Order: sequence, then C-alpha cells, then structure tokens
Amino acid sequence: MQIRQMTPTDMNVAVELATRENWYSENQEVFRAFLFHDSKGCFIAEKGEEPVGICIATPYTHAGFIGELIVAEEHRGQGIGSMLLKKAIEYLQTKGIQSIYLDAVPKAVTLYERQGFHRVCSSLRFTGKPEGKEDDHVRAMRKWDLDPVCRLDRNAFGDDRHFFLKWISFIGPDFAKVFAKDKVIIGYITGRYVKNGVSVGPWVMSPDIFNPERLLLSLAMETLDEPLHIGVLEINKKSIQLLRSLGFQEKENPSVRMAWGKEKDLGTASTCFAIGSPAKG
Ligand SMILES: CC(C)(COP(=O)(O)OP(=O)(O)OC[C@H]1O[C@@H](n2cnc3c(N)ncnc32)[C@H](O)[C@@H]1OP(=O)(O)O)[C@@H](O)C(=O)NCCC(=O)NCCS
Repeated sequence: MQIRQMTPTDMNVAVELATRENWYSENQEVFRAFLFHDSKGCFIAEKGEEPVGICIATPYTHAGFIGELIVAEEHRGQGIGSMLLKKAIEYLQTKGIQSIYLDAVPKAVTLYERQGFHRVCSSLRFTGKPEGKEDDHVRAMRKWDLDPVCRLDRNAFGDDRHFFLKWISFIGPDFAKVFAKDKVIIGYITGRYVKNGVSVGPWVMSPDIFNPERLLLSLAMETLDEPLHIGVLEINKKSIQLLRSLGFQEKENPSVRMAWGKEKDLGTASTCFAIGSPAKG
C-alpha cells in the first residue's frame, strides 16, 4: 500500500468513492477546488494500481481542516484510513498548523480519538423547505462583493476561506446572495444543487442582525420545492432555534466536530449560521 498526492486524473476515483457513501454534495468541482487550493494536501492510497482510499487536508492560515476520508469498503479494517489520516495531520504540521478540525461520523469518532482528536460539539444536519420571501435588502452576490464578503467571513469563521469563496464565485454558484444595508454587506449565503436538493452554506451574518433568516428565505424563493440541507454546529443555538422555527428537521445520529492541538474555535462564532461543508469547515 502506498499513499501519494492526488492529481487531476484522480478526480473520478474521488467522486466515485464519495458517491458510494451517498455524499451527494462531493462532486468533481468540489474535489477540483481542493486540488487547486493545495494539491499537496490531497492524498490517495493505492494497492498496486488500485486506488483504495482518499483523504484531504486543507491548510488555512492558522488552522487546518481534514475531510473526505474514505476507504473502499472491501479494504476497510486494515489500517488504511488511519494511515491516510496520519498523512493529513503530518502535512498540516509541516505547514506550521497547530490546530486541526474535522467533522466525524459517529462510527469514526474512535479512529480520530486514537490520533489525538477530541470532541468539540455535535455537528448537526438540518433539512427543510421553508417558504421563500423576497427581500429588498438581499441581492445576488457580485464579483466585486468578494472582498467585503471575505472580510465578513474571516471575522466570523476565524480564518481565511477566501480561496473557496473566490472559487465559488468563479465557477458560478447556483445561489450566492448578500444582505446589504446602506451599501454595506452584513451577511452572505451560498448554496448549490446536489442530487437530493440544495446544499446551503457557508451562511454568515454580522452580529446583532435582527432578522438573520432573511437571507435564507430569499434564497428559498429561488430553490422552489427543493429541500435545503444545512449543517450547523450545536454551539450555534441561534441558528438552530431559527431553523427549527422554520420547520427544519434534524437528522439523527449527528456528526461530531473534533479538534486536535491548540484549539482555536474555528467556525464556532454565533455569526456562522451554517458550516461551509463537513470536509472544510
Ligand atoms: C472511516 C474509514 C475511512 C476508516 O477506514 P479503515 O481503513 O477501515 O480505517 P482503519 O482500519 O484505520 O480503522 C478502523 C476504524 O474505522 C472506524 N470505522 C469502522 N467502520 C466504519 C464505518 N463504516 N464508517 C466510519 N468509520 C468506521 C472504527 O473506528 C474502526 O476502528 P475499530 O476497528 O477499532 O472499531 C472507513 O470506514 C470509511 O471509508 N467509512 C465510510 C466513510 C466515512 O464514514 N468516513 C469518515 C467520515 S468522518
């Protein structure tokens, strides 16, 4: 078994492994974004010529995130997942990163604990079909909104996600909206079509916004009858309360947000109404 860096020709394998897990949101574009962001953090395990697993480490400026850890079912239980995870951690360490995060499915929690991760909180998944509502203060995100959106995002998330926000705006998201008041952007939301609905997030608002749901309901105006899927950290009580009040249902057996090293509270601010993705926070 050997572990090497992914190349663009590995994208089909990555998507196939993700699809077998019913991770509908993880398509070619998602993996291509990881590869363009930092190909050295994208790993693939092979037995001979056969690809058997993947894992992706995303270095931000101060913290890192690990995701997309998948081993083909017939090769599980032989330590491949642990080796991929170890590679990802080691890579982030070489970048000087001392805080690493991930979203673990319940079955994988012990695997991560064995390598030094600890639980932070549950990472919840909600699905709902709220009734859309037009809003005078909400408009489509434009290319020149990117800088203020990135600033807002950095303050809320706690690290620099501008690469992915830029990538979203570059490939043309299905939905990307900003909440602007007196020409100042005080919130943004993105969403994209996936096989079973619309995957929403990141969704970030400035503190002390009176009606944070306005961005979500404006987005729902366009998604028509598609269910919206949203990931929220258990810590964000305001977002959870809001989603419940809009009739969103919570998935059972939630994932667990886990951290390694000198924790930096990445993405735990109450202004982060939805995570970007389980693979990169
Ligand atoms: C998680 C996964 C990558 C582990 O790969 P692996 O090569 O079997 O890993 P290892 O042999 O190093 O470790 C096995 C550990 O994986 C965990 N595990 C076992 N089955 C699992 C499953 N279906 N899903 C998730 N984790 C599982 C357990 O902690 C197990 O440890 P244990 O045998 O002491 O109970 C693999 O099970 C998988 O691809 N699962 C589906 C995708 C997934 O859930 N990925 C993790 C997302 S957070």
